[in-house]
Amino acid sequence: MGEVQTKISGAVRRKYNVLSFLYDHIWPGYIKKTIGSAIEPIRLTGSESLLDIGCGTGELERILVSKYQNLHIVGLDISDDMLELARKKLLQYPKIILKRGDFLNIDLAENSFDAAFSISNLHYFPNPSALFEKTHRLLKKNGKFVIIDWNRNSFQGKLYNGYMNLADPSFVKAYIIEEVVPLLEKAGFQFEKVDYFKVGIRWRMMRIVSKKI
Ligand SMILES: C[S@@+](CC[C@H](N)C(=O)[O-])C[C@H]1O[C@@H](n2cnc3c(N)ncnc32)[C@H](O)[C@@H]1O
Repeated sequence: MGEVQTKISGAVRRKYNVLSFLYDHIWPGYIKKTIGSAIEPIRLTGSESLLDIGCGTGELERILVSKYQNLHIVGLDISDDMLELARKKLLQYPKIILKRGDFLNIDLAENSFDAAFSISNLHYFPNPSALFEKTHRLLKKNGKFVIIDWNRNSFQGKLYNGYMNLADPSFVKAYIIEEVVPLLEKAGFQFEKVDYFKVGIRWRMMRIVSKKI
């Protein structure tokens, strides 16, 4: 892992350790909408193996297992405190495995997931190719990869990106679709679709769906 990523990962960890106890309470609408949009393109039968990169307080896991008890989900996060909240929320679901660490450093079985999610964290990766290449190795053939994140495709997105650059040392960049697709393809994904949605007046989100080939 490069020096820049190590520095950013440290800042991300400190930020979310501080924010953790507020996270679910400050942004419930944002969390519901972004997680709902991530799940929607995956047609689940209920017995898949799923990977949640940067699972935070475990909301994706909670929503999915309340509907499908037989899903196997690995959620991982770099923040001990976010993960601790996820652990408490998901105590009664032994099929959900929570791991602490930087995604780029965590050991997981290759070719073992049917789908992977990166929800609201692409902007913390200075080298998105490293994220995409690792996700590609972990997914089974034809496994889906859903990315939800901020972007600079809109005027609000550009403004927010500028503000975050000044205000938040853990923030790297809100990417645009034109930056992401070539890197996904280089990592071995087939790009399927991108669309955009709003959350309140501040956030213009992009959703990128791709498939491991
Ligand atoms: C905005 S929160 C989103 C949490 C969750 N995905 C959700 O939608 O509620 C971003 C999360 O990504 C995690 N994160 C960022 N970079 C990470 C990395 N390199 N490895 C693991 N987790 C990371 C942060 O600790 C944080 O919990």
